[in-house]
Amino acid sequence: MAEQFIGLNLPSAKSETRTIKPCPTLHGEIILPGDKSISHRAVILNSLARDKARVENFAPGRDFVATVRCLRALGVKIERKGAPDSRALLVSGVGKDGLEEANNVLDAQNSATTMRLLGGLLASQPFLSIITGDASLRNRPMGRLIEPLRLMSAEIWGRGKDSLAPLVIKGKKLRGIDFTLPVPSAQIKSAILLAGLFAHENTVLYEKIPSRDHTERMLKWMGAKLESQENSISLLPLSSPLVSVNLRVPGDISSAAYFLVAGVIHPNARIVIRGCGINPTRTGIIDMLLAMGAKIKISNERLEADEPLADIVVESSKLTGIEVGGDIIPRLIDEIPVLAIAGCVAKGKTVIRGATELKVKESDRIATVVSELSRLGAKIEPLPDGMIIYGGRPLLGAEVDSHFDHRLVMSLAVAGLIAKGETTIKHAHVAQVSYPTFWRTLEQLIEGLGSG
Ligand code: S3P
Repeated sequence: MAEQFIGLNLPSAKSETRTIKPCPTLHGEIILPGDKSISHRAVILNSLARDKARVENFAPGRDFVATVRCLRALGVKIERKGAPDSRALLVSGVGKDGLEEANNVLDAQNSATTMRLLGGLLASQPFLSIITGDASLRNRPMGRLIEPLRLMSAEIWGRGKDSLAPLVIKGKKLRGIDFTLPVPSAQIKSAILLAGLFAHENTVLYEKIPSRDHTERMLKWMGAKLESQENSISLLPLSSPLVSVNLRVPGDISSAAYFLVAGVIHPNARIVIRGCGINPTRTGIIDMLLAMGAKIKISNERLEADEPLADIVVESSKLTGIEVGGDIIPRLIDEIPVLAIAGCVAKGKTVIRGATELKVKESDRIATVVSELSRLGAKIEPLPDGMIIYGGRPLLGAEVDSHFDHRLVMSLAVAGLIAKGETTIKHAHVAQVSYPTFWRTLEQLIEGLGSG
């Protein structure tokens, strides 16, 4: 049965199995779904503004739905606007003191961004909130959120000795902090900044390795007093509400990544990707594929919503293995599963290090990438902080499992395009978490039609 969301019918979350076969060509032009990280921030921050804002091309997946539902439960009016396919929302901001206590537990579903960003915000609001998520999210680390918020004097608790969700938050006026993020995490950084907007004093954050900066960009654009330097961010509490901003969300580079890799590893491919976000804190996948010898051309660079975007053309390429590690990791953390597929095809060895964070994503992505690619005949070994892939061996179709991880299922589908025989992926429905139209776009490229 179809599920209703903001006037859109999402397909049911019923488990589904998909079979992928090698295809002779992969040709066409695609238009990407809106960036998930930017979409979350666009509705959260516009909810705190004074006026109405139009958010176009919002991310279509279930994670974003979770954020919209939580904000509605907190008293924010968010409506679908325009034609059914226009992907536009109207957010009626409630101002800096306008959020209301929800009358039930908030559900972030599979979305850590929803839980952590709202966790920070709710710690600073004068009411009680309880926020939970699905089995995967309830298993992901929340101590990293609770600890800095408590340094700001927040009253926040979690299951498992304050390490896991559900979280209970008794919101109150907080103190500002000077804090060095122990792990590069845009979610934790953003949670602290959201809490800091309502604190008594300034908040200063230091990042050893920079993570995605969408929150900082949007806060500055909306009039917050925020200054960012290479490794530090300084924020003053809000003295007046944020200024609402109408925006069109750029295409999601994390969704583009499947087609970037499909294009370079397939022997007869040419894919044009329009309107892809190329924020430098997110483009590690392009840098690494180029370093492997990929034919990727970037053109028509422009700025929308204070975010850079461009058109990208990708073609069949001959790849060579590389070493991936250090400061680039946060710039491609979500793309490592699909980068591993490129590693399987590349000549020589690809070594990924410094990516311990993979273990605490929607699945333990070191374990799940290694197990599922091994089933496809890849020679791949886990490392405590990454993996080694011995490339250049043919992949062989087999039955694999998504482990209920959206990034893994789409990466396995890309592998299936070049694996000999049939690749059957169990629990393939989880692509809906970030990219519900992924399968249709893939089918259209296989037919040489591209997608709208
Ligand atoms: C995100 C930050 C990253 C990323 C996630 C989205 C965000 O998580 O992996 O998919 O929108 O802030 P971490 O903050 O845990 O690194």
